[in-house]
Amino acid sequence: MNHSKLLLSFFCYFCFISFTSSSSSFSNNTHKCSTEQAFALLQFTESLSSINDTTYALQCREDLGSRYHPIMMNWNKNTDCCKWDGVSCNHFTGDAIAINLSCGMLRGTIYPNTTLFRLPHLQMLNLAYNDFTASQLPREISSSLTHLNISESGFTSEISSEFLFLPKWISLDLSRNDGMRIQPFVLSNLLQNSSYLRELLIPDVDVGWVLPTYLNISSSLKSLDLRSTRLQGKLPRNIFNLQYLKTLDLSDNEVTGSLPKVVINQSSLISLDLSGNRLQGKLPANIFNIQNLEILDLSSNDYLTGPLPEVNMSINTPLKWLDVSSINLSGMIPYSIGHLKSLNYLDLTSTNLSGEIPDSIGNLTSLNYLLLSSCSFTGSLPKSLVNLRHLTTLYLSFNKLSGTLPSFLFTLPLLEDVLLGDNMFTGGLPSEFFNCRSLRKLSLWKNQFDGDITQGSTQPSFIKLVNLTYLDLSSNNFRGSLQLETLFSSLPNLERLYLSYSGLTVVTDNSTNYVNPDFQYLGLASCKLTMFPTSLRAMKYLQSLDLSENNIHGRIPDWAGEIGGEWLYYLDLSHNSITGLPQFRDGLQFLFLKSNLIEEPFPVSICNMKQLIALDMSNNNFFGMLPQCFGNISSILLMVDLGKNHFHGTIPNVYEDYGKLEGIILNGNQLEGEVPSSLSKCQSLKVLDLGNNRLNGTFPSWLGDLPNLQALVLKSNNFHGPIVSSPQVKLPFPSLKVVDLSRNGFVGHLPSIYLQNFNAMKDVIRMSPQPEYVNMGGVYYSVIIAVKGQLLPFPKITIDYTIVDLSFNKFEGEIPSIIGDLTSLIVLDLSHNSLTGGIPFALGKMAQIESLDLSWNQLTKEIPRSLVDLTFLAFLNLSQNHLVGRIPTGKQFDTFEGNSFGGNPELCGIPLSKKCELPHEPKIEDGEDTEFGFTWRVVMWGYGGGTLLGLVMGYIMLSTRKPKWLHAVVDAGENMIQARKRERSHVFLERWN
Ligand SMILES: *[C@@H]1O[C@H](CO)[C@@H](O)[C@H](O)[C@H]1NC(C)=O
Ligand SMILES: *[C@@H]1O[C@H](CO)[C@@H](O)[C@H](O)[C@H]1NC(C)=O
Repeated sequence: MNHSKLLLSFFCYFCFISFTSSSSSFSNNTHKCSTEQAFALLQFTESLSSINDTTYALQCREDLGSRYHPIMMNWNKNTDCCKWDGVSCNHFTGDAIAINLSCGMLRGTIYPNTTLFRLPHLQMLNLAYNDFTASQLPREISSSLTHLNISESGFTSEISSEFLFLPKWISLDLSRNDGMRIQPFVLSNLLQNSSYLRELLIPDVDVGWVLPTYLNISSSLKSLDLRSTRLQGKLPRNIFNLQYLKTLDLSDNEVTGSLPKVVINQSSLISLDLSGNRLQGKLPANIFNIQNLEILDLSSNDYLTGPLPEVNMSINTPLKWLDVSSINLSGMIPYSIGHLKSLNYLDLTSTNLSGEIPDSIGNLTSLNYLLLSSCSFTGSLPKSLVNLRHLTTLYLSFNKLSGTLPSFLFTLPLLEDVLLGDNMFTGGLPSEFFNCRSLRKLSLWKNQFDGDITQGSTQPSFIKLVNLTYLDLSSNNFRGSLQLETLFSSLPNLERLYLSYSGLTVVTDNSTNYVNPDFQYLGLASCKLTMFPTSLRAMKYLQSLDLSENNIHGRIPDWAGEIGGEWLYYLDLSHNSITGLPQFRDGLQFLFLKSNLIEEPFPVSICNMKQLIALDMSNNNFFGMLPQCFGNISSILLMVDLGKNHFHGTIPNVYEDYGKLEGIILNGNQLEGEVPSSLSKCQSLKVLDLGNNRLNGTFPSWLGDLPNLQALVLKSNNFHGPIVSSPQVKLPFPSLKVVDLSRNGFVGHLPSIYLQNFNAMKDVIRMSPQPEYVNMGGVYYSVIIAVKGQLLPFPKITIDYTIVDLSFNKFEGEIPSIIGDLTSLIVLDLSHNSLTGGIPFALGKMAQIESLDLSWNQLTKEIPRSLVDLTFLAFLNLSQNHLVGRIPTGKQFDTFEGNSFGGNPELCGIPLSKKCELPHEPKIEDGEDTEFGFTWRVVMWGYGGGTLLGLVMGYIMLSTRKPKWLHAVVDAGENMIQARKRERSHVFLERWN
């Protein structure tokens, strides 16, 4: 059921579906069709062949509700052409008057001179949903033709004005022919001047018309579809005041301007679609009271604002379909919404509406669809929902709803799809759920449901839910254990099952039970599985399988490599005790094997995975050399993590296009040789982590040319020599936020030239309230960082987390003052070098710093007082230097203990035991204070905590949870109505789903 079907039912009197039925009234012809016409028709067929295209088959069924069939099967010259499929004749004269070849499995190219366009008495021609690639309409056409439908059939070229003006067009459907064009003036002429045209449908035809201030439309026109025709300019002022038109679709264009005021009037419009434009301003009051309007779609206009207007109860509005999703609304749903009594589709998804869902929603007793996902609704489900006896679809995901699920919900007789993911619901599932036979989809993902789902019995509680195709109970606190095979056999239509982190234990037995052959998605992460379930073997179309964080031991059986055939694109076996792998199929896009006990060479079969996007084999016992093909796996690869294994040899060169690659992690192997300079081809690289290997050579300065590089980790290798910049790179490392070169043999001065250019570490303004994390194609970059003197693992780090670690090298000379300009730096570690001179006063400018380690150097002079004002500084180590004088006091410095300063024999004062000889006189330090003033200190003072604490807390939560994106996307993927027309979300869904 969608919008366009609803429209069809209003205007069926001039739609082509009626043609076929009309042919029966002509079936008792007295006249046979003339030989000329039969010949003309047969000549036309000669240029065509037959195809069987699944896309057309699907579209015919879904868009038109018609059969995809070989229409020309019985066309032959020995039978009366009036009896041919799709041909209708005038039963007095025998002239062909209507030809309907839609969904006819035809392919070929139709040229302007084809006999078809010249049949002298033809009135209706329907060629829709065939593959007539590169076909062209003639400039002129038989003047008898009144109805033409060539939608979705591959016509191209410009439509001439002769073509549009000559015949007495009644209905023209030129929809969805890419590469068709109509000149703007031709269209506007046609709209104003045609005398008979009732219906003009040209979505996706390229027009580029700048809309006039007032739309002038001939009185004959009833239906106008200009979706996605590159309409421009402001919305016509009379849009709510059109006199004759009944349906108008201007969606997916570039229309700007605001919605005009609604005055109660005589608008004839029944359906108005303005979605997917750039409308602005507030929703006008009375928008729900436009006379006669039954369908109103304003969705996906990001700049439309305002509250949802009150509904005027004195006017009886016929509105049936209201879509204001993806509009920037504010406030609550007005109580008066209950007056929209005719409403059967209400979509408020992705608005910023908040507050409780009003009780009056229960007055909308005709509702079939109630779509309220991705807002900020709070409170519990209103009791009045019990009145929505026609409700089929309830989407409430991504809100802040709470309370228990009322038992009446599952007694609504037509309820099919219920998505409640990512809320704060609690309690158990009411027993009515297990009797809700109509239910097809249920998502309870990411709530706080608990209770024993098995209802205490080993018998399947799910046995009555025979229509269920989608069940998501993941990320909850349910109790009990489920027998996988019994569940599959109780739910014969199930295609997607997610139990990951649900709290449930999943047990399997070894018998292969019945599995719905269409089964597609299975998520069983953290379900205490002990073996690879044998029932998976029957899943021929499995697309996604997540068995991570279980207790699966030993080798994965060889047959598992065949699961899902070419369909399987996502496989996660991370965090088990797997020791060996089968050979997987080539179609995999995501392969996660992290943290197992796999002891094998690099599986060469991975090199054949030309669709691979993400590969994580880290933390296993893989050994041997990386094969040369490693540099040539797939051109859409986004991340590779081979860290913590036993690979040796050199890093293979990148041979082919790795232009999309965002992350390479080879940390913790025994790799040797130099960093291959071919990596410079990976221009999208965000993370390069080669730490803890045996790499050598000098600093790979050409990496400075990678514009997106955010994290560079080369620590614990055998790099040597001074760090010099490459003369070719003007502004090196513009995006770098994490640089760890520690524990190498680098010598010479600290690389001022680089420190000067780390612009991503300067004056970063934290924009989004939600933390953003360094990720590689959606997979978080995890890293071990020395903070507070300890190594801490971070499963993900925010992009605000900036680190410079140059410790354990042989750097000498002074610390350049320029380092103080890295005002967003959070961790600075220069310890264990041979740095000399004083601590620069300018370090006091690093207002965000939380961890500063300068220990084990040869630093001299006094500790600059400016450090006292580093409000966030939680860890300071200046020990083992030659610092002198009194340790500054006050503010943050009062929290540090003796070990921050030990090993500096000439230092004195608290917290050291050595007393200072002279009483303290604060010294003015060479006027440096005026350089940056005191203002920033005042601002920062009083804000404790900082991000470090947040990160550590985040770590504790994250170490037991999966990245959110995977589920969030799957849940959103179900919201098909929402995704209906939005190209952007489509791209997104296709990528992940
Ligand atoms: C026309 O044909 C239909 C079925 O083919 C038949 O039922 C009907 O009686 C016929 N009418 C005449 C007038 O012959
Ligand atoms: C077209 O292909 C589909 C699926 O491959 C098949 O089910 C159908 O019978 C075919 N149709 C014809 C007319 O061959």
